[in-house]
Amino acid sequence: MTLGGGVVRVATDAAALALDAAEVFASAANDAVGAGGLFSVVLAGGSTPRGLYSVLAGEPFRARVPWTRIHFFWGDERHVPPDHPESNYRLAHETMLSRVGVPAEHIHRIRTELPDAASAADAYEETLREFAGPGGGRSRPLFDLVLLGMGTDGHTASLFPGTDGLRETTRLVVANWVEKLGSHRITLTVTALCSTAHAMFLVSGADKAATLRAVLQSEAPIGILPASLIRPVGGRLTWLVDQDASRLLQPPRSAPL
Ligand code: 6PG
Repeated sequence: MTLGGGVVRVATDAAALALDAAEVFASAANDAVGAGGLFSVVLAGGSTPRGLYSVLAGEPFRARVPWTRIHFFWGDERHVPPDHPESNYRLAHETMLSRVGVPAEHIHRIRTELPDAASAADAYEETLREFAGPGGGRSRPLFDLVLLGMGTDGHTASLFPGTDGLRETTRLVVANWVEKLGSHRITLTVTALCSTAHAMFLVSGADKAATLRAVLQSEAPIGILPASLIRPVGGRLTWLVDQDASRLLQPPRSAPL
């Protein structure tokens, strides 16, 4: 099913969604490594990707994924230490990266030990620009795959409705003040998140159903729903959702995978 400029794939439940996402990840990684020698992927935070990361770290995917050729980035981070329970880095590290053989220099963590979110954002901007090289994402996308989640308010990464970060068009990374959280979040901008060969949202749960329909099928001003802004330039957009999250989509959702 194609909606909102993207392809919607419906998995039976969260476990099936994780397996399907792992298939996409492994295929994309092997295709990218086969074509250019490396695979650059942006990891999502939150709770939904936990299942995907655990599946990737186990068999058969552990043997299928070319771990030593992958560069890992993060779409956003809370300004907490890397071992903090809320850290998106810690989520990926404990569920996946600590269990597979990724060279330490390929793990590009957002350095939240820096004194403030702005410094961490500036440092990560440099990291991305250095990785992109002279082309700077113009000659080719920054990333091969960007994984994203979506909040019930339509936020993605840490681009929340009404926040200044949504209006940034030059920088790749910003420290975004999120009033409802009372804190800054370090987040890739829409520009950075769209500079990818493939963006894939992972959305699970009935609580996301109304928002998913609004993002994919409503005529609301897209500025209100940040997830609507993610349209990879010349790349693919996939919404990988489970049945609960897709229950309000029309026409009747495609058969489960
Ligand atoms: C974060 C994520 C955020 C997340 C959504 C959905 O740092 O929390 O980047 O954008 O993807 O909030 O979170 P869940 O997967 O927990 O529903």
